[in-house]
Amino acid sequence: MENPQTVPLADPRRDLARYEAEMIDVTRRVINSGSYIGGPEVDKFEKAMARATGVDAAAGLGSGTDALIFALQAAGVGRGDEVIVPSHTAGPSVAAIHALFATPVFVDVEYDTACIDAELVAAAIGPRTKAILAVHLYGHPARLDLLARLAADRAVVLIEDCAQAQGALFSGKSVGSTGKFGCFSFYPTKNLGALGDGGAVTGSQAGVDLVRKLRVYGWSTPQFAEIPYGRCSRLDELQAGYLSVRMQGLAEDVEARRKVARAYRELLAGLPIDLPIEQADCRHAYHLFVIKSDARDALRRHLGDAGVMTGLHYPFPAHVQPGLSTNTRTAGSLDVTLRLQERILSLPMFATITDNEIGRVADAVRGYFRK
Ligand SMILES: Cc1ncc(COP(=O)(O)O)c(C=O)c1O
Repeated sequence: MENPQTVPLADPRRDLARYEAEMIDVTRRVINSGSYIGGPEVDKFEKAMARATGVDAAAGLGSGTDALIFALQAAGVGRGDEVIVPSHTAGPSVAAIHALFATPVFVDVEYDTACIDAELVAAAIGPRTKAILAVHLYGHPARLDLLARLAADRAVVLIEDCAQAQGALFSGKSVGSTGKFGCFSFYPTKNLGALGDGGAVTGSQAGVDLVRKLRVYGWSTPQFAEIPYGRCSRLDELQAGYLSVRMQGLAEDVEARRKVARAYRELLAGLPIDLPIEQADCRHAYHLFVIKSDARDALRRHLGDAGVMTGLHYPFPAHVQPGLSTNTRTAGSLDVTLRLQERILSLPMFATITDNEIGRVADAVRGYFRK
């Protein structure tokens, strides 16, 4: 059995427990409705998602990866096109580009935020570039002002990977409302987590209507495939119902994560580690709280011995993984990506972590540097 004293990296069970009664109500309601795919729960959640993001429409999908694939596809990305993306990201950001037989072009990230370095993107754009995939990694927005301007100037499409950033703002606007499409994941540990897989694309009504055709065999009406390369990837009624329940607590949960970040920042001040920052004009949603240390591996072992779970997001950049690096191009150096990979360490971060647990994490980190 897991040591009850262990501080987990995330705890979806504890986060969900607050909503258990309402989720049981949803389950009963859906069972009794006789409608399990494409019914009122999905419709209601999609409207809430569009409202929360500040866009015309949202389409519920089977996963965040499918959200990326459909968004890229609806933006016209296909075989041989290039898509600019960081190598320092979750694998699915890059896998989605490969799924369309397009070519990922890797660009380095900023050391401070671990998001794509917007200053380097212009030089990476070539004649085959179709899109920029900006990943709001760890919950901090990428430089959407610079990226949107560049995309407009160079006639490429900007797409946002918001899987880790639900609740984050750039210049007061929700992530997922600046690019042509925003792509969200409802994986259970995400800021808005389902009880299984789920995802959504946000955007204009016309753009989302296209994604709605792609998610159901390319159909415009039942049994009539209007567009090619449609697949099947739908958010179901149960997950949509659960997500509507959790959506009501999203702002509070993101605020709770921000409070945890403030506490860590106070308790860890003065140590020889780099703490996450929040750039001017940005609201960090703290999906992850990632510190950086030269002594990362020894610190990680020390924390493990002290009963504190940690994570590496991510242990391998995309450009070194055989399954992601084939048929890619790298624009410029990836020095920051490589440096981050050796130094990053994710500390426990979730909405319901207790003050006592935060204190134990901080004591354990301080304990390492007292040695
Ligand atoms: C940045 C990023 N993009 C995309 C995804 C893919 O989402 P999903 O696991 O729902 O397919 C994830 C989730 O792991 C992610 O963190």
